[in-house]
Amino acid sequence: MQLKGHGGVGAWTVVAHVLAVAATALVLVWCIHFRGGLALRSHDKQLIFNTHPVLMLLGLVVLAAEAILSYRSFPQHMILISRDARKKTHLALHAVALALGVLGVYAVFKYHAEADIPNLYSLHSWIGIATISLYALHWLAAFLTFFFPGASQATRRSAVPWHAILGLLVFALAIGNAQLGFLEKLTFLQGPPLRLSRYGAEALLVNFTALVVLLLGVAVVLATANVDSTRYTAM
Ligand code: HEM
Ligand code: HEM
Repeated sequence: MQLKGHGGVGAWTVVAHVLAVAATALVLVWCIHFRGGLALRSHDKQLIFNTHPVLMLLGLVVLAAEAILSYRSFPQHMILISRDARKKTHLALHAVALALGVLGVYAVFKYHAEADIPNLYSLHSWIGIATISLYALHWLAAFLTFFFPGASQATRRSAVPWHAILGLLVFALAIGNAQLGFLEKLTFLQGPPLRLSRYGAEALLVNFTALVVLLLGVAVVLATANVDSTRYTAM
């Protein structure tokens, strides 16, 4: 969008970076301080679960956001950062995001297997499988089209707007599904046996984290929006 911050980096990009740092800190405080920590192997199965929100948020939300913003995070006049370097940064950040996401989904399946809980019964889990699969497919299609072996110049030109809008849609799915995940986990914690207080510090922290994640999604969409008044004819 046309809002400019310092040195040619859009103001929404700066806002998104700040929210990304805040979301990371909040989910770590929740899972480590309130929920007892993180482990992929433990007798305490809850610690295995805890790695799920942390990895999903770091991967499909925070790193995905940073990857999407990577073309806009440095002022355009910084010619030292070539287009090729920006493209490799974008591709690599999305690859790490995807790897963390896959590990996060593996962790929650492992938790379910070891705690004897059935799989794939919830809306969150169905949208979750769709999101991680679409993210992986999108990455592969983009890699083949824009990097190696790379399509013709004409194909790239017609594919790039589709790539950008479909990429934002997959990212929006991850943001929405994180909302469902936070809500579902908080509802479990508020039921028996823990009966967490509805107005307690932990409940507020989880709801606030979800809100920061939502606002991060909004900031990323606004940072990448190309507002073009010439496309509208019915004024
Ligand atoms: C943003 C990306 C996310 C994706 C793609 C995702 C994906 C998934 C998937 C596929 C499952 C099903 C596991 C199974 O059936 O064995 C699951 C379970 C679960 N996730 Fe997430 N998740 C995400 C974020 C979160 C977050 C941020 C939380 C917050 C705590 C969360 C909480 C849960 C809970 C409580 C379960 C177990 C109950 C259920 O299967 O619905 N998820 N997730
Ligand atoms: C799931 C993974 C990916 C997602 C979600 C994604 C998302 C996006 C988004 C939202 C944009 C628009 C950014 C903007 O307007 O500033 C974009 C641009 C772009 N992406 Fe991706 N991307 C992914 C993977 C890749 C990969 C693997 C490549 C391979 C090189 C790639 C190449 C590009 C290119 C060339 C652009 C155009 C940048 C420009 O000219 O402004 N993307 N991507």
